[in-house]
Amino acid sequence: MSKKKFSVNGTFKDSVNTVKFLTERKQFIDSAPAVLPTRTDDFGVNKVAKSLHPKEQKLVISRIEEHADIAKSYYFNSEAPLAYFKAGQYLTFKLEIGNSVVTRSYSIASSPASALNGEYQITVKRIADGFVSDYILDSWKVGDEVTAYAPEGNMTYNPLRDAKSIVAIAGGSGITPFLSLARAIEQGDEDCTLTLLYGCRTSGEILFKTELDSLSEKNEKINVIYVLSHSDEEGYEKGFVGADIIKKYAPDGNYSIFICGPGGMYKFLEAELPKLDKERKYIRFEVFSSGKKTEDPKEYSITVINRGEETVIKASSSETVLCAFERAGIVVPARCHTGECGFCRSKLVSGKVYIPEGEDKRRIADMQFNFIHPCCCYPESDLVIRIN
Ligand code: FES
Repeated sequence: MSKKKFSVNGTFKDSVNTVKFLTERKQFIDSAPAVLPTRTDDFGVNKVAKSLHPKEQKLVISRIEEHADIAKSYYFNSEAPLAYFKAGQYLTFKLEIGNSVVTRSYSIASSPASALNGEYQITVKRIADGFVSDYILDSWKVGDEVTAYAPEGNMTYNPLRDAKSIVAIAGGSGITPFLSLARAIEQGDEDCTLTLLYGCRTSGEILFKTELDSLSEKNEKINVIYVLSHSDEEGYEKGFVGADIIKKYAPDGNYSIFICGPGGMYKFLEAELPKLDKERKYIRFEVFSSGKKTEDPKEYSITVINRGEETVIKASSSETVLCAFERAGIVVPARCHTGECGFCRSKLVSGKVYIPEGEDKRRIADMQFNFIHPCCCYPESDLVIRIN
């Protein structure tokens, strides 16, 4: 009599294997020693992950450098290793100002290599009536400890995504991420060329000029051009950084554009960039919003719903909703302050807000269900907002 062969496969085989696996797993658990396992914090890989992505970093101000009356650079070190970053990223600081808990982000000016050597640098520029910048510039001193989150931000050079040549357009203190990039190129940590178009009102407002000139002179991958809008001086371009100046210094058209500066500069470029006929994927930007509108301010109220509790606070049409929260001491998670990260996402239950053109970076579903990013919304009526 011939024997028949059966092969077992498919769902039946899976079921058999699962039963076998469950039995083995039970035996394994039963045979485990009755002692606490080693803390996973002690595993090397977890230590590395923690130092790369710390929840918070305690930083100590090691020195302060004044840039005339315009700005100050703050240098930080820490007892713990500093989280690494890519040139172009920012640090978000958590600050307690009076009864308010606020967060503000500042691009890192130092090179990534300096973080490995235990130092970060940021530069803070004074802006008229700046709620946070005034506080930092007037009160931070050497030896103070401040709290910052891990570095974040997407305006970084990625060889898989970006062209090998970067045309960077900086306005005012928006120079800092590109100073970091230039330093990284000089130190051999980034392999791209950088044409830096730095717009300022006058030559007196240019930050880091000596270092930028020196980097440009000694490294052929770096070219720095200064563009002055309010003065006509020899050796400088005159006007605003627009399509003509970009074409003049990057004639071959094969480049990615990175932009960092005030909202006004971005608005000007919005009309200029289409003249370059560039695909949107080659344009990346970080817009600093001062959190202010210049029109006549109107007073409104915001009813804030936080875990079922309601608080009514005052708000001005000239300041962002996030600013109103911060002034009232209401803590909302926030990082970028440019509408990008989504940390401050909240539900607009009722009322009307104004979102400046180009600053609405919400997901389509969030728009449909009335979620807003308070960091770039201005009240246009009394509001009711749920923050969690
Ligand atoms: S803080 Fe990033 S979206 Fe509001």
